[in-house]
Amino acid sequence: MKLLITGAAGFIGSNFVYYWREHSPGDRLVCLDALTYAGNLNTLLPALAQPHVRFVQGDITNTALVDALFAAEDFDAVINFAAESFVDRSITHPDIFLRSNVLGTQVLLDACRTHGGVRFHQVSTDEVYGDLPLDRPELLFTEETPIRCSSPYSASKAGADLLALAYHRTYGLAVTVSRCSNNYGPFQFPEKLIPLMILKALDDAPLPVYGRGANIRDWLHVRDHCAALALILQKGTPGEVYNIGGRNERDNMTVVRSILHELGKPESLISYVTDRAGHDLRYGIDPAKMHRELGWLPETGFAEGIAATVRWYVENQSWWAAILDGSYRLTAIPA
Ligand SMILES: NC(=O)c1ccc[n+]([C@@H]2O[C@H](COP(=O)([O-])OP(=O)(O)OC[C@H]3O[C@@H](n4cnc5c(N)ncnc54)[C@H](O)[C@@H]3O)[C@@H](O)[C@H]2O)c1
Repeated sequence: MKLLITGAAGFIGSNFVYYWREHSPGDRLVCLDALTYAGNLNTLLPALAQPHVRFVQGDITNTALVDALFAAEDFDAVINFAAESFVDRSITHPDIFLRSNVLGTQVLLDACRTHGGVRFHQVSTDEVYGDLPLDRPELLFTEETPIRCSSPYSASKAGADLLALAYHRTYGLAVTVSRCSNNYGPFQFPEKLIPLMILKALDDAPLPVYGRGANIRDWLHVRDHCAALALILQKGTPGEVYNIGGRNERDNMTVVRSILHELGKPESLISYVTDRAGHDLRYGIDPAKMHRELGWLPETGFAEGIAATVRWYVENQSWWAAILDGSYRLTAIPA
């Protein structure tokens, strides 16, 4: 199989490259990434040293580049991770979110259409469903929950999802969409909650918690997410949406306390900061369809997953130090 993985130098995309290599080492993987500030070539270097893995630096909105790549590689499938992904940045710069997340997806879909016979999977987010109240734990997002976005980020992801599903209906393209909850694990850029808090705590610096830290997220270990995505690519039904969640709801304070506990640091490091505009209260996913139709279940409990994640950041200081000092942007693409 020849697979195009966009956004492969980001957090989930890179984990997916390693997951796929481990399970299907004979497949050819082409990793396409624009290497924005969130893309980190260092993460991919060990994979790029292996046979059948190619890296291309390029933007998914670049029609000519995408077309040439499809013509040269004759892909069987595309999995689209490439996106601007940080809600706070979407509040200050909505335009780049619309360009990469919506128009970039359209360029990829058109390439699949032009070149024919290419399976397309769109990696999306539970944020397209808006949020749930904090005091109704029985309410969960299903695939039928109406789209109700809160941020320019989630609106751009919803736009891409709807476009992908419309290409299935209009052109008969073999498209699936998955919507997952918050991921955590190795290689996550330290602007996101869990790595940010780990690095602050390691530095004995104040841990900035939005509002009172009451917002609830359904934490999904990135490896469980990759396993779910692989199943959807192989066995998912075109035209369908699949929700992927960890059944691991935790409020932000609990997550931050777990990190401090793992590192043996005091809770006095917690410092409350002004809440994000339009901050969603709670996300909770019902992943029953993934289990019923594809036999998937998350395997990583939160206690085990957060301990392993904290350990990973402690043991891989050179990976994140290169981000903090900016040198990760200087890594050359291997010949
Ligand atoms: N991280 C999460 O918890 C989470 C949860 C739900 C959904 N998602 C979705 O999963 C996908 C991957 O998320 P992530 O956390 O790995 O994001 P990330 O920000 O870590 O990585 C995104 C990658 O996409 C690349 N990229 C951005 N714009 C591009 C463009 N125009 N052309 C080519 N490459 C481009 C970046 O360089 C980066 O390597 C995204 O689509 C995101 O919306 C993430």
